[in-house]
Amino acid sequence: MNSNKIKWPNSRILELFNIENPIIQAGMVWVSGGNLAAAAADAGCLGLLGAGSMHPELLKEQIKKAKSLTKKPIGVNIPLLYNKTEEQIKVALDEGIRIFFTSAGSPKTWTPFLKKEGCIVVHVASTPEFAKKSQDAGVDAVVVEGFEAGGHNGRDEITTLVLLQQIYNKLTIPIIVAGGIGSGAAILAAFAMGAEAVQIGTAFAATKESSAHENFKMAMCKAQFNSTFLRMKKLVPVRLLENEFAKKIAQAEDSCATKDQLQEILGKGRAKEGMLNGNIQEGELEVGQIVSEVNEILSCNKLVQKLKHEYIAAKQSIL
Ligand SMILES: Cc1cc2nc3c(=O)[nH]c(=O)nc-3n(C[C@H](O)[C@H](O)[C@H](O)COP(=O)(O)O)c2cc1C
Repeated sequence: MNSNKIKWPNSRILELFNIENPIIQAGMVWVSGGNLAAAAADAGCLGLLGAGSMHPELLKEQIKKAKSLTKKPIGVNIPLLYNKTEEQIKVALDEGIRIFFTSAGSPKTWTPFLKKEGCIVVHVASTPEFAKKSQDAGVDAVVVEGFEAGGHNGRDEITTLVLLQQIYNKLTIPIIVAGGIGSGAAILAAFAMGAEAVQIGTAFAATKESSAHENFKMAMCKAQFNSTFLRMKKLVPVRLLENEFAKKIAQAEDSCATKDQLQEILGKGRAKEGMLNGNIQEGELEVGQIVSEVNEILSCNKLVQKLKHEYIAAKQSIL
């Protein structure tokens, strides 16, 4: 079958976002700017800008950039743990964004306001309890994210596979699944388990259009099956690629370091230093376990074509 003519299973997400493929390019700090969001949108997915690392002015610039590159809809991911949330939301609304993925905070805080503004709202949850709370808060869909995922993570260490089973048949809104999705076979499995779309971070972080530094992209290509670990649970849990900085954190954690001691090692600007500036040993490199399957830097379009081919092959193999 020609993968351009792929027929996906029924999915309310395709209609909700008016997209061809049930694939969300995740919002990612330092990685998903206007280039990546526009390229993902042009590849038939929903592209998200990662506002977490952007001052409101930069967010405005990147939304304008994405809009100049694609006519397709794009959205914004706003982690709710920073103090610039209100300004970011205002800028995004002023720039015409009507798709918001909120994360790292309570779904109750902004959902009613955004719904009143006519937006589609999705919240990211790492437990079945939070997924249910998101539905109760009035979101249109929920991302359930297992702790295989790159970036900041749930404290409870629930895997994607288990989380899906814990939530299966318990929500009426569509489920988007995230964490460890890196092949078409995994997309098929997600659908079989009740998801209506997948959100992919790590694999998109390693594409040509991502703003990750080339050193970071190369490090992703070299990663092995056991190259990532969940660290800093006392601060904000995050899955990191092993490097000198991650080793220092691990040693401190092994010696029962306090929250303040971890904060001191982390310092300021580590994520930018690693992911944007390419300091591979001393920077913070956020990636998911599935990074072991990233072997080359593809364009967004090639990545999506590959996922579609694999999905078709996986489906045929079980018919
Ligand atoms: C480099 C990087 C940065 C991320 N930044 C954010 C973020 O700012 N906000 C957020 O909600 N999730 C963030 N995430 C998580 C992704 O949105 C996504 O849910 C996750 O990467 C999916 O799992 P995967 O990495 O296994 O594909 C980040 C992930 C990565 C790899």
